[in-house]
Amino acid sequence: MKIIQITDNHLVAPGDLLDGLNPIESLDACIEAVNSHQSDAAFCVFSGDISNNGAADTYRAFRQSADKLNLKYYVMMGNHDDRDVFCENLPQAQRDSYGFIQQVIKTDLGHFLLLDTIAVGQSWGEYCEMRGQWLKEQLHDADGQPVYIFMHHPPFDIGMASMDRLKVVDTTHFEAAIAGFTNIRHIFLGHVHRTISGNWRNISYSVLPGTNHQIAFNLDVFSPVPHALDPPAYGMILIEKDQLTVHPHFYSLNNDLPIPDNAVWVDKTKTT
Ligand SMILES: [Fe+2]
Repeated sequence: MKIIQITDNHLVAPGDLLDGLNPIESLDACIEAVNSHQSDAAFCVFSGDISNNGAADTYRAFRQSADKLNLKYYVMMGNHDDRDVFCENLPQAQRDSYGFIQQVIKTDLGHFLLLDTIAVGQSWGEYCEMRGQWLKEQLHDADGQPVYIFMHHPPFDIGMASMDRLKVVDTTHFEAAIAGFTNIRHIFLGHVHRTISGNWRNISYSVLPGTNHQIAFNLDVFSPVPHALDPPAYGMILIEKDQLTVHPHFYSLNNDLPIPDNAVWVDKTKTT
């Protein structure tokens, strides 16, 4: 199964720039790239910071762009998003039984849990007792099937001072919810605007760049968060029963050299 992750779009009012870039054009370029190569994916997850300021016009602009995707898509909250405005403007937003924007996507290869890690009015993340209760319920419901977690804020340090202070700062309820479950295969993250992968307590994780600006590769600046103009990427993720592979694709670089005329291509009509 192939899925797509797109993160940290940071849309501003149509025509406005952010870090000298146009976030709507940046998102459109990403969607065009995904449509060109990944239309066979099962679905796409936008993992938060869809808007830079939580304004309604940014979510309307997002819908205009995202609706061009040839894929079913799901939306998550980031710290720059506003929960109420998000829900009013994005029909894909789903509240859980406690009112948070959390949902489960059930597939033949396991359950994908999309978490809401927002601390209202803050840039850091939080995961409260009610959200932890929901997570625990979903983990029980998965009944041993593989579980893949998407969350905007990392629940652990990733080695960058400016972002480590903006993780989920109190993981008590997150850790209590996942305690004893050994079927969590991977955590997909946003928020950090960089390409990072690793392993936390035997769970692999990955972080992707955003579609507009990035965060500078500077481990020691504590505040403010240093921005950078590194290239944007989306994530193409291949999932099998015994393997998960994340391909971050820096679509804006367009560095492909010409493919020779005598190249041999995969025959996609063949099933093995
Ligand atoms: Fe962000």
